[in-house]
Amino acid sequence: MSLSTSRIDKFIAQHLNIARKQVRVIIAQQRVVVDDIVVTHVDQQINKFSVIALDGKVIQRETAHYLMLHKPVGVVCATTDKQHKTVIDLIDESFKKQLHIVGRLDLNTSGLVLLTNDSRWSEALTDPKHKVEKHYQVTLANKLTPEYITAFADGMYFGCEDITTQPARLTILDDYRAHVVLTEGKYHQIKRMFGRFRNPVLALHRSRIGSFELPDSLLPGQYKALDIS
Ligand code: URA
Repeated sequence: MSLSTSRIDKFIAQHLNIARKQVRVIIAQQRVVVDDIVVTHVDQQINKFSVIALDGKVIQRETAHYLMLHKPVGVVCATTDKQHKTVIDLIDESFKKQLHIVGRLDLNTSGLVLLTNDSRWSEALTDPKHKVEKHYQVTLANKLTPEYITAFADGMYFGCEDITTQPARLTILDDYRAHVVLTEGKYHQIKRMFGRFRNPVLALHRSRIGSFELPDSLLPGQYKALDIS
């Protein structure tokens, strides 16, 4: 997890357009406060969500935003696109340009997409080391068999990237529908895994990422703010 940091003296020097030597005096005079604590060291680290005040006046305050969105089929997981509507186009908030997507879905996949301007949070959710579970409902063209369960659990080797997929849980719901849980997100991973069985995916829907579950009340195209405190 990393939110890039920088020094407070550099920030104040840029803000006031003065030399760092002059900032040292300002800091010695205890005129700078970060997150309600008076700054005593010129090399104190700050990040983009630090609340910074100078002489009692706030000069930086950026709010972290966390959203969950129900992506409809046909909407692209990108910030801009010439051809398709994007997930950002579905958001009606002044801060929408600051947001990035936490784990993309394909154009023809529906379901849960998380968005934020907090890279620490998104990196924690997408880092393969953390093995955050992603839950999918899959509808297939051909009948499922118990062999799928073992193949998904064993992992599959993909020569193009020279990778073996992490153990995945597949539960057969009925002849043509499965629930799949992945802890990673390789390119077209689910479609390619079923592709091993020459079984085309007809529909793919993500219902959950870690502890965040798409509620039935959130309809395709709708989003809501998350309280992650
Ligand atoms: N696997 C896929 O093939 N597509 C997605 O959108 C997500 C997982």
